[in-house]
Amino acid sequence: MATTVVVMAAGQGTRMKSDVPKVLHEVAGKPMLLWVLDAAQQLNPDRITVVVGYGAEQVRSILPDGVDHCVQEQQLGTGHAVQTAVDHIGDVSANTVVVLSGDTPALTGEALIELVSGKEKIGAAASLLTAELPDARGYGRILRDGWDRVVGIVEHKDANAKQREIREINAGMYAFDGAKLLEGLSQLSNVNSQGEYYLTDVITHFSEREFPLVGIPTDEAVIAGVNSQWQLAEANRLMRHRIATDLMQKGVWIQDPFNVYLTADVVVEPGAFLYTGVHLEGACRVEEGASVGPDTFARDSSIGAGARVWYSVLREAEIGPEAEVGPYVSLRPGTVLGRGAKAGTFVEMKNTTLGDGAKVPHLSYMGDAEIGDRANIGAGSITCNYDGVDKHRTEVGEGAFVGSDTMLVAPVRIGKDAVTGAGSTITKDVADGALAVERADQREIPGYAARLAARKRKRNAD
Ligand code: UD1
Ligand code: CA
Repeated sequence: MATTVVVMAAGQGTRMKSDVPKVLHEVAGKPMLLWVLDAAQQLNPDRITVVVGYGAEQVRSILPDGVDHCVQEQQLGTGHAVQTAVDHIGDVSANTVVVLSGDTPALTGEALIELVSGKEKIGAAASLLTAELPDARGYGRILRDGWDRVVGIVEHKDANAKQREIREINAGMYAFDGAKLLEGLSQLSNVNSQGEYYLTDVITHFSEREFPLVGIPTDEAVIAGVNSQWQLAEANRLMRHRIATDLMQKGVWIQDPFNVYLTADVVVEPGAFLYTGVHLEGACRVEEGASVGPDTFARDSSIGAGARVWYSVLREAEIGPEAEVGPYVSLRPGTVLGRGAKAGTFVEMKNTTLGDGAKVPHLSYMGDAEIGDRANIGAGSITCNYDGVDKHRTEVGEGAFVGSDTMLVAPVRIGKDAVTGAGSTITKDVADGALAVERADQREIPGYAARLAARKRKRNAD
């Protein structure tokens, strides 16, 4: 039977207390809705239609190619959302219609495959995922009869005290027989505490008609719904845990899996080491044998095999194999470190290439620079790359030795194997192999200290 997926994502999510449409809030660096769509794709459906409404333009803009949408102008309830979708799709009577919500990011493809096969196995009118929760507040409760058959769903707000004690909840994920769904939707009314058309009433209707129903108990970690900021944080915790578990199974060493923050698209190779407090966001890659942390933030950066990065911040930086970064280093966009290069304590770099084996070991700023292989930049050296209007480039040749506290006033070029004297302000190019020193000669005044002391003693005595 052809499978059609409908994802309800039109609500504002008032309980989030945020103007951002609920389904766009991010979990592990990815909007919640995209996690749900990923899971849905695993059913290989003929069609996925997302019901958008609140913030329709914003939600639509993140939909992947091939995912369809329809607009529910007024959010009159989940039943009305599905009605809007089937009106848009056309005849679904011969299809299995899988209905999901955009606010359940932990959903898995496996759970959906179970949902659909559960329905098909007994030719049920509908199957639905359920879970036993220690705290079921807010969720619809599953009503079962003496034979343990599902006979309906009652929303928390409509439930009586006894029904509220039920721990088995409706996950809001269903597989429907298309024809029967259409019939059920046509019977809906909005006479309830919220004045909404509840999709859940379709299940109650099926039970009254004695259509076979299947409730499929599922792990609560798969169905967690996000309605509040707290639940968003919970969902993030769940997904982080899942990402870390997956990496560890592949052979990544993680010192404390509850204390690393990795977004979904981060790649960490087996044999890499992640210490506590590591945040990796976006297109990050950590290669085999590299170690990151403690306490490092990296966005859209790569860390080569065997490299070591600790207590540092990396944004769009590329760290070569066996390189060393940290502690307390800030690498800004466009920084590239070659093999075995080093950016040591309190170093900032931007739009700078550091050649293989080149070192900037202490207290330096290197901006818009090209530093050759094996060059050494002495402590406290700085590229003066900005004249207040324009940025200029600095070039340091291979094997050059830049003395401590050198100011490199760009544009300037230090030749291959050239040397600068400590404390120099270099404003002119230095030839290959030359020494450039720019500082006043040192003078020495013998016996000065004793004469100064005598003068002070005399003044105090007067
Ligand atoms: C719903 C279920 C509840 C279940 C819970 C699981 C109903 C009536 N209740 O409640 O039984 O336990 O999910 O998480 O279905 N939406 C629309 N259009 C609307 C209304 C909602 O697209 O008119 C979307 C929302 O954006 C959201 C999803 O449907 O993505 C669920 O709506 P929500 O208001 O969160 O329902 P719950 O109260 O959580
Ligand atoms: Ca919800």
